Amino acid sequence: MSISVQLQVINETDPRCQFRVEIVNQTQHALVDWSLHFTFDRFIQPDSIAEHKHTQVGSYCVVTPNKPLSKGETFEFEFAANSAKFRYLSDNFDDAFVRSNGEMIAVDLKPIILASPYSQRTQVPVVSAADIAIIPKPNSLSRSQGQFHLSTSPIIAVQTEFAGNAVDWLFEETQQLLTWQRDDYAETADLYLSLNANLAPQAYQLSVTHDNITICAASAAGFGHAIASLLQLFPVDAGDAIVLPLVNIDDTPAYSLRGFMLDCARHFHTIETIKTQINQCAKYKINTFHWHLTDDEGWRVEIPSLPQLTQVGAYRGVDDAIEPQFTQIKQKHGGFYSTLQVKEIVEFARVRGITVIPEIDIPGHCRAAIKSLPELLVEPSDQSQYRSIQNYTDNVLNPGLAGTYQFLDTVLDALADLFPAPYVHIGADEVPEGVWLHSPSCQALMRAEEYTDAKELQGHLLRYAERKLHALGKRMLGWEEAQHGDKVSTNTVIYSWLSEQAGLECAQRGHDVVLQPAQYTYLDLTQDYDPQEYGVDWACVLPLETVYSYQPLAQLKPSDPLRNKILGIQCAAWCELINHGSRLEYMIYPRLQAVAEAAWTQPPHRDWRCFLSRLKVDLPRLDRTGIHYRDPWLAKPYDRQPQQN
Ligand code: ACM
Repeated sequence: MSISVQLQVINETDPRCQFRVEIVNQTQHALVDWSLHFTFDRFIQPDSIAEHKHTQVGSYCVVTPNKPLSKGETFEFEFAANSAKFRYLSDNFDDAFVRSNGEMIAVDLKPIILASPYSQRTQVPVVSAADIAIIPKPNSLSRSQGQFHLSTSPIIAVQTEFAGNAVDWLFEETQQLLTWQRDDYAETADLYLSLNANLAPQAYQLSVTHDNITICAASAAGFGHAIASLLQLFPVDAGDAIVLPLVNIDDTPAYSLRGFMLDCARHFHTIETIKTQINQCAKYKINTFHWHLTDDEGWRVEIPSLPQLTQVGAYRGVDDAIEPQFTQIKQKHGGFYSTLQVKEIVEFARVRGITVIPEIDIPGHCRAAIKSLPELLVEPSDQSQYRSIQNYTDNVLNPGLAGTYQFLDTVLDALADLFPAPYVHIGADEVPEGVWLHSPSCQALMRAEEYTDAKELQGHLLRYAERKLHALGKRMLGWEEAQHGDKVSTNTVIYSWLSEQAGLECAQRGHDVVLQPAQYTYLDLTQDYDPQEYGVDWACVLPLETVYSYQPLAQLKPSDPLRNKILGIQCAAWCELINHGSRLEYMIYPRLQAVAEAAWTQPPHRDWRCFLSRLKVDLPRLDRTGIHYRDPWLAKPYDRQPQQN
C-alpha cells in the first residue's frame, strides 16, 4: 500500500497550461505535517497555487498542504505553468516523494494524463544492408571485384611515427580477433602505414588490394580516421573469416571540427560511460569531446585548491546545500572527476584522435559554485531579483566582487594545467534579466568603469576571462550569448545553438564559429512523436531523418568566404533527464552518426537511403559492443531498463 501521485493536464491555452495533481493516501497511516516533493521542468506560476504553501528551486518543488491526509483519502491541488502543450510521458514530474513528520516516503508516481499527445509517427524506409558500411560516408570510394583475406596473425608495417596512436587503437579494437605482428621493415606485410606529407591535415588514403592494405596520411589525425574506416570494413560477426572488400578510399572531412558535447553536470556520468562514447565518437571521425563540467546542479571537476567546489558542489540532496533536481530526488546524487580521472579521459581521447575541451559555464549557470564558495561569490547586500530560464534566483557570478576573480583565476589556472587542448569553453549562455541591478559592488564597478548598463558587466567579466586564458596560452570559446553587445574580442570562438543563422551572424562579425543548432543537433530532444518517447521538445521533435536532413550552410554559395569562419559542427547531449549510461546511448545513437555525416561528408555524397543502408550494418555493430540505441525501424520506442551508473 502506498501513496500515489498523478499529474493531469486539464487545460492548455497557449501559453498557460493548467494542471491537477491528485495524491491518494493508500497507506495505513494519516499523513501529518506533510509535504509533496517533486521535480518539474516548468515554472509553477505562484498566483496559480496561492492557497498552498509552495516553493520551487530549479525543478525542485515542495507543496505543503495545511491539513493532514487521512488514510484512504485523496488530496488535490491545481496549478498553472506557461508552456507549450504537453506531448510526452516524460513531461511528467521527473520524480516525487512525500515527507511526513520528517520521514521521506516513496510514492507511486503514475504516468501523466496528457490532453494532447501527438498522433502522427515517423516512418523510416525499409532498405537492405549496404555491402560497404562506413559512417560517415567517405568522400571518394571506389570498389573493385574481389576480396582480401586477412590472416588472424597479420603483419603490420608502421613506417611513420605519426601512426602510433592509430596503431594502438587498432590493436585494442581488434584484440579479440587478431594477433598483430609488428614488423616495420617487413618486405611483405598485410597492412602498411606510411606518411604522405602532401595530404591535407585530416585526410587519409586507404587501399585494400588482393595483396595487402595500405594507409597513407600526413598526420596522426589522418591515420586515426583511416583506422576508423578500416574497422568498418571488417565483418560484423567476429566468428566470420576476416574478408575485406577491395576498395580505394581518398577521404577528407568537410569540416575540420566535428564535436560531441556531453553534459555531466545535470547528471553525473561515470568514467566508463564517457570512455564508451569517446571511443564510439572516434569511429565516426568525431574529433572533439566538449565536456560540460559545471552547471547550476553540479560542479564535476576537481580544482585542488578549491576543494569545496566538489565537496559541496558535486552533490545534491534534500538536506544538502544544493537541493535535489530532476530525478532520483530522495537519494543523494552526484560525483566528480578527480584530476587523475580527467587525465585518464584526456589520454584515452588523445589516443583516439579526440581533443577534450572543458566547459566551465560562467557567469550564469553557476549555482553549484556559488553554493560551494559563498564567502567568495556571494554579496549579502545584493538585492537584485531575477529568475533564470531554469528557475534559479541565485545562480549568477557577481562581477563586482573580488572573490569572483579569485575564483576565476584559480579555476582557469587549474583547467589550463589539466587540459592540454588550446581551448577552454566558458559558457556565457542564458544570463537572466535583472541580475546585478541592485548589487552595491556592481554599482561601484559600473561607476568606476563608466558603464551605463548593468549588462556591460557581463562583458567586463568575460573579457577578464578572455585575457586570463590568453595569458595561459588558451583561446576562449563561448556560447552565442558571449558576443552579444561586443562583450568579447573576435578571437573568441562562438558556439551558436539557438539557430544556424545566429552562427552566421557571429561569423559576419568576425568570429570563428562552431554550429550546434538545437533544431538539428540537440540529442536530448525526443526522436519521435510517440508519447512514450523520452526527452524534451522545447526546440522541436528531432527524428533521425531531420538530423540527417541538416545541410550546414545550405544558404551560402560554395565560394562564400564566410564558410572559412565556420570551424565545424557539433551535437550535444544535455542531461537534465538523462540519468544513466543506457539512456544516454538511447538518446545519442544513431542520431550522432547522422551529425557525424553532416560534418564529414560533402553534400553531393550524402543520401538518406544510403545512410540507412549503412546504418543497417552499423546497428548490429553497436549490438556487438553492447551499446544501446534507438532503432529507427521500430514503431515503438524501446528504452532498456535503467542500469545504475
Ligand atoms: C545552451 O543550450 N544553453 C547552450
